[in-house]
Amino acid sequence: AANSMWGGRFAGGPSEAMAAINPSIDFDRRLYAEDIQASRAHCRMLIDHGIVSSTDGQAILDGLEAVQREIEQGSFTFKSALEDIHMNVESRLKELIGEPAGRLHTARSRNDQVATDLRLWTRAAVDRLDGQLRTVQAALIDQADAGADLVMPGYTHLQAAQPVTFGHHMLAYVEMFGRDRGRLADARKRLNECPLGAAALAGTSFPIDRHMTARELGFDRPTANSMDSVADRDFALEVLSAGATLAMHLSRLCEELILWCNEGFAFVELSDAFTTGSSIMPQKKNPDGAELVRAKSGRVIGSLITLFTVMKGLPLTYGKDMQEDKEPLFDACDTLELCLACTAGMIQDMQPNAENLRAATQKGFLTATDLADWLVRVPGMPFRDAHHVVGRLVKIAEDRGCDLPDLSLDEMQAVDSRITDDVFGVLTVDKAAASRTSHGGTAPDNVRAAAQAAKERFL
Ligand code: ARG
Repeated sequence: AANSMWGGRFAGGPSEAMAAINPSIDFDRRLYAEDIQASRAHCRMLIDHGIVSSTDGQAILDGLEAVQREIEQGSFTFKSALEDIHMNVESRLKELIGEPAGRLHTARSRNDQVATDLRLWTRAAVDRLDGQLRTVQAALIDQADAGADLVMPGYTHLQAAQPVTFGHHMLAYVEMFGRDRGRLADARKRLNECPLGAAALAGTSFPIDRHMTARELGFDRPTANSMDSVADRDFALEVLSAGATLAMHLSRLCEELILWCNEGFAFVELSDAFTTGSSIMPQKKNPDGAELVRAKSGRVIGSLITLFTVMKGLPLTYGKDMQEDKEPLFDACDTLELCLACTAGMIQDMQPNAENLRAATQKGFLTATDLADWLVRVPGMPFRDAHHVVGRLVKIAEDRGCDLPDLSLDEMQAVDSRITDDVFGVLTVDKAAASRTSHGGTAPDNVRAAAQAAKERFL
């Protein structure tokens, strides 16, 4: 049978394969609230500007409310023959109110309709992500406050480098998530323009008021070009791109949690709530939550690539290809929400192990740079010479199986006679960490001040 919406031109219905590939209702039904919200704003504008009578308009507004109730109560029957959420809603409206339902689509197309719905949905998703990121930052800042004095090895190349504090390490992620929030906020600014009224692609001859609908839907302004309005999906790409960067940050944090739970590190313990046991090995406490966040970051990055690939070859304006924008966007946002909730909980519950963190600083010659800096500061050696002297001392300590402060003054002076007893004052990891007071450095006092500043900047 021919389609009830455009049957006029058609003698036959779709093939079985076409009926399977064509619909989007299975995934775009989650746009129902945005679709009805935008339809109601459109309808009120049509009434206001005398394009639809107030009697018909009121029937439409009431009918749309009834449709929304049915959907929310679960009594609505979604039909894939009606393709998408837009036609499912309109078709039910027709069943409920009859003839006036056909007037709703005046001066509108599904092309501007879907673009509007998706922007509304994406804007709300961005706001949810922002709130969750803030929660993760709050948890990290709490850990930073509590761990401002906990010394631990800082790594480069995953090789022990210099002492840092656990709090400083936490605040590094606070900065990353702060930039993620900035990128989302920036995307939100650009996406907050209303495509409704662009109609199919060229605008409309009806005397519509796009400023009114834009305002009613909380957009900053209507979009400027009708063709761009229905052809553009870069608002979704921007959010996916910010989301992919965020996912990468979550993955790195979780990778560190996984490493830190390894018995070789044993730097932190995750709570029972975010770990699992083994069905065979009774001793196991596996960091599955962190592993899944690390893995799921791949889906988000994949979604970005999916949508880029869908969009890159499309001539203006709308193409049905663009129906494929929703699944990657929905999946990426759902995945991020889940990962952020899991990460927030893991960080809130995480217990750093102060003894193990400190014990790890006793390996790897973490104060070698401090010794070299002392040679520059006190006897006034050029840094490159100092570097060489300390290198020789490290070699001796390594051969002896001890750390730098365990060498005797005699052993040190045998390498360079300018070394004095004072040098031992800089060779402890606490002194080394406390000495790094430069802006953004790891000294505990800096970390406490940075945590306070982060609260003011982000929370
Ligand atoms: N289901 C479609 C989508 O998601 C709605 C827009 C359809 N427009 C059209 N001209 N076929 O993109």
